[in-house]
Amino acid sequence: MSANDYPIFRRLTRMNMLASTLALVVACTAFLAYDVFLFREGLLRNLNVQAQIIGSNSVSALTFNDPKSAQSTLSALSLSSNIISAGISTPDGQRFAHYSRTGGAELVQVPALAAGNDEAHWFGLNEVVVVHTIVFQGANVGTVYIQSDLNRFYARVWQYVLILALILFASLFAARFISAYFGKAVAQPIAALSETAQTVSRQKNYSIRVMDSGAGGEVSVLIRAFNEMLEQIQRRDDELQGARVGLEKRVEERTRQLVAANRELEAFSYSVSHDLRNPLETISGFSYLLLQEYGDKLGPAGKANLQEVNDATKRMAQLIDDLLALAHASSTAMHREKVDLTQMTKSIKSELQRRQPERDVSFVISECVSAEGDSSLLRVVMENLLNNAWKYTSGREKGRIEFGCKQESGTTVYYVRDNGAGFDPENIDRLFKPFQRLHSKSEFPGTGVGLATVQRIIHRHGGEIWAEAKVGEGAAFYFILQPELAARQWA
Ligand SMILES: Nc1ncnc2c1ncn2[C@@H]1O[C@H](COP(=O)(O)OP(=O)(O)OP(=O)(O)O)[C@@H](O)[C@H]1O
Ligand SMILES: [Mg+2]
Repeated sequence: MSANDYPIFRRLTRMNMLASTLALVVACTAFLAYDVFLFREGLLRNLNVQAQIIGSNSVSALTFNDPKSAQSTLSALSLSSNIISAGISTPDGQRFAHYSRTGGAELVQVPALAAGNDEAHWFGLNEVVVVHTIVFQGANVGTVYIQSDLNRFYARVWQYVLILALILFASLFAARFISAYFGKAVAQPIAALSETAQTVSRQKNYSIRVMDSGAGGEVSVLIRAFNEMLEQIQRRDDELQGARVGLEKRVEERTRQLVAANRELEAFSYSVSHDLRNPLETISGFSYLLLQEYGDKLGPAGKANLQEVNDATKRMAQLIDDLLALAHASSTAMHREKVDLTQMTKSIKSELQRRQPERDVSFVISECVSAEGDSSLLRVVMENLLNNAWKYTSGREKGRIEFGCKQESGTTVYYVRDNGAGFDPENIDRLFKPFQRLHSKSEFPGTGVGLATVQRIIHRHGGEIWAEAKVGEGAAFYFILQPELAARQWA
């Protein structure tokens, strides 16, 4: 892995370089400023000494009004190549003698010195001027000025800048190598740690460990702590895995027991219901015979009692049929096929109208409604829902029953709606439980098993059923079928 792949390494190197550059720039700037200051002071000191020497050498020339002598004194300045010009003035400001490097007459306008001040200087961009009063026996006999260029000053500054730039470059070069060497020693183990952490979280493999490359210090502590943490997670993971496998086995075992118990119960209730049929038919048959053959001998009260027995056996036969249908809905093998629900609804409607032709019920049946499922079980669903709609609209002068479907979030929702008695939505929870009825037998006959059977069939088709209703305003039953979710059900 190359150094470029370690962001922490790059960050460390960058940080070191930045700190080194900053420290070096600050040190070089301070050094340069200090040298500039010293050089300036030295230059001024030299010019001052030269001005003083020229001043003392010109005293007699000034006293005896001998400009030529003063001129020759000034000419000695030609030895100093930095002097641009120099001049001597009388106390009243008249020019007495002057020197110019170029031989020209350019003169510096020397301002009068403030009282008590016998020396002054000022810096321009390219020059410096030093002014001195010439004093003889306590009296001011004239003024001397020297104008010097700053060529040597700038040359020196540039020289220093160059040297400092070289030092800066060399130091940074060295710092880069040193920080690369030490940075790698610190960053590499951290980068390895971070890469292992990523692999662990990606692969969920807690058996991986980070190699301690002997970096020492906090990095080694971090690697040890990380490895210990992985070890603990791995241990817990193994324990959890063991517990999960045990739990799954227990759940499987319990499920097997429950399924077996359920099957036994279903088989038991099926055979009980089935076996009850024969004695019931005997009671029903003999009570009917009794009524027919000995009815006159029993008298009106005996006849009524016997009629009651006969009615009760009919109700019980119905109950047994319903229970058998419920058991059948749960256990019968299912075949997946395309079912024409529109056609099915129409045939159930004809059957209902044939049984009670006197009733005025209008049907609104959507065309081309089909579903995927077991056709005989779906018929049980449609029969129950439509029988209910037919039964609970019996109190209406004009009944209305609708069947159709709609699309909701890509799923087909089938519905059976009526304008019958409806029910209290508070009791919706009891609707699909066996033997739970929301209306009394005197109002509407029934055993309360129909919707429980419907729900079982819908669940076996991977679907759901729900209802909406209001007392006196009818009811609507909705269901969806998702046969693809019920893969284990199909024979
Ligand atoms: N269309 C409906 N309108 C109003 N109430 C309804 C409707 N369908 C069902 N119910 C209520 O739900 C209860 C349960 O219905 P379910 O079909 O299971 O039983 P049932 O119709 O009473 O008897 P059966 O088992 O003979 O069908 C009914 O007793 C009734 O109170
Ligand atoms: Mg019913």
